[in-house]
Amino acid sequence: MRNLIDIKDLTEKEIEELIKVAKDIMLNPEKYSEKCKHKKLATLFFEPSTRTRLSFEAAMMELGGNVIGFSSSSSSSTAKGESVSDTIRTVGAYSDIIAMRHPKEGAPLVASKKSIVPIINAGDGGHNHPTQTLTDLLTISCEKKRLNDLTIGLCGDLKFGRTVHSLITAMSRYKGIKFVLISPEELKTPEYVKTDILKKNNIKFIETNDIEEYINDLDILYMTRVQKERFFNEEDYLRLKDYYILNKEKLKKAKEDLCIMHPLPRVNEISTEVDDDPRACYFKQVAYGKYIRMALILKMLEIK
Ligand code: CP
Repeated sequence: MRNLIDIKDLTEKEIEELIKVAKDIMLNPEKYSEKCKHKKLATLFFEPSTRTRLSFEAAMMELGGNVIGFSSSSSSSTAKGESVSDTIRTVGAYSDIIAMRHPKEGAPLVASKKSIVPIINAGDGGHNHPTQTLTDLLTISCEKKRLNDLTIGLCGDLKFGRTVHSLITAMSRYKGIKFVLISPEELKTPEYVKTDILKKNNIKFIETNDIEEYINDLDILYMTRVQKERFFNEEDYLRLKDYYILNKEKLKKAKEDLCIMHPLPRVNEISTEVDDDPRACYFKQVAYGKYIRMALILKMLEIK
């Protein structure tokens, strides 16, 4: 039985295959409409979500399966003190596969040790978000037509942004990747990501706090929100929340084929005036998320 806790749980070849299947689903959805008949997905979200939970649920429905679950810990027996392990053992009796989001780093890994059905990490604290990364890889593959030879700017909260940590891990496996890490001093990429992933794999990277300094070099600009829920004090959040606001003016120097991505939700970091720019890919990225999750559910359930 497979779990997906970290993007490293998938080989490059498996990711390639998932992207291929997702593209086929986009072209031929009817071929897949009954693949998960009589199967149930449980979405256990101990932390808020719009895209991840609903795209998983839409994915399972479009595969002909059913969905059960909860969208907050307050509406589950967690509120009465039940442990993650006991919740997982219980839900395994009612479902074939579980997608789980939790505010504590490592909770999906702990859950996977007790589970009798596959566990998918749908985001754990400031740690990892592997299915967002699969979404990002499908987006890059569709929009840039390649996963190698790219200069990728990651901008915003690179300390707590779990999507950034997973994306750096995934993209570091491809050739010719360079990162421009754009953040205020307080929200820099964690040392473990720089040491264990970037330096270990000889990936070129630059750190800066100036979004305009390197914007003309970028093939992809991946904006992120400052993660309010991970701050220890409100004062620091208020000081940093509007540090970067991408607008038309800042994009003047950027390449014509720049791909602007954002895992969403957006707060202020991309001005709405950018939404009509043909380089804005973040709402397409939302749509790609459903197709890659359909491909992932099929893989985890070992359905051809
Ligand atoms: N990108 C993402 O994880 O969005 P949600 O928090 O809405 O699921």
